[in-house]
Amino acid sequence: MSTALPASTCRRLEKAARAAVHEAYAPYSKFRVGAAVLAGSGKIYRGCNVENAAYGLCNCAERTAIFNAVAAGERIVRAVAIYTPTTQPTAPCGACRQVINEFGPDAVVISVCATAARLETTLAALLPAAFGPGNLTRARAGKSGGS
Ligand code: THU
Repeated sequence: MSTALPASTCRRLEKAARAAVHEAYAPYSKFRVGAAVLAGSGKIYRGCNVENAAYGLCNCAERTAIFNAVAAGERIVRAVAIYTPTTQPTAPCGACRQVINEFGPDAVVISVCATAARLETTLAALLPAAFGPGNLTRARAGKSGGS
């Protein structure tokens, strides 16, 4: 599937994700991941996976990049790129899909790897019928149904 991102933006985002993998802290899984987020302002924010000796506290690269963007004042995620040094592209995990949805329900998601194989999709395709902020506001208003 093709994305609505200009080719030059797509290239910059992918390059940032590839660069971010060098910061990965993955001594336990040895599975290194780099991510980059194109935020509402047009700026790109990087992130890597950050593992912990208490394994359950490991943070994925995508969430690191999004939290980095949000901590800089961004509230919109337009696109997320993920790089893994693997032969096949890596799609974001379920938790990351949920976090992307919070800021980027219309986001483009691009996964690239060490070969020419790539995945270009959307958050909506990866997380259909998502639970999001609208569910809470509708519940408060006493309404029901829909996403
Ligand atoms: N990981 C990511 O950073 N992103 C993903 O989309 C999948 C998994 C990380 C978490 C953990 O540090 C390692 O990869 C193995 O699961």
